[in-house]
Amino acid sequence: MVEHEPEPKRFEPKVPVQLDPPKDDPISPEELAKCDGSDPSRPTLVAIKGVVFDVSRNAAYGASGQYRVFAGKDASRALASSSLKPEDCVPEWYDLPDKEKTVLDEWFTFFSKRYNIVGKVEGAKNT
Ligand code: HEM
Repeated sequence: MVEHEPEPKRFEPKVPVQLDPPKDDPISPEELAKCDGSDPSRPTLVAIKGVVFDVSRNAAYGASGQYRVFAGKDASRALASSSLKPEDCVPEWYDLPDKEKTVLDEWFTFFSKRYNIVGKVEGAKNT
């Protein structure tokens, strides 16, 4: 399988994105799980290192999108290790090799240039 990492240079979106100021609101893992694209009354959310991004505008994370496995989860481990397996869509990334930690930080940058930060996962360890 062709694996890929975010564009290595600047991670700038092709079309400029107007972002709101980041929010620090606590979001419980239970609420996050409900925001998986299946409930039209809720936003679609993806968390990285406990920071929650609103990815609603990208159909890739929607109910039939190619990256729906990440929706409603802190998918740090999967993003770090270029995995689409549901069992890897968990927050634990601390034990990963440095190279994968770097990939995760690059994904964090990629997401932060595209999606609004709407809160933090309650109880998340994010340093
Ligand atoms: C056959 C393998 C794959 C192909 C052909 C592929 C292709 C693509 C393409 C074309 C994009 C859009 C890039 C852009 O917007 O600039 C993308 C984005 C992305 N890919 Fe993949 N991908 C593959 C595998 C994976 C895997 C294994 C992961 C697991 C981490 C992954 C995670 C992502 C993520 C998170 C995005 C960003 C979506 C966004 O929010 O814009 N991809 N991929």
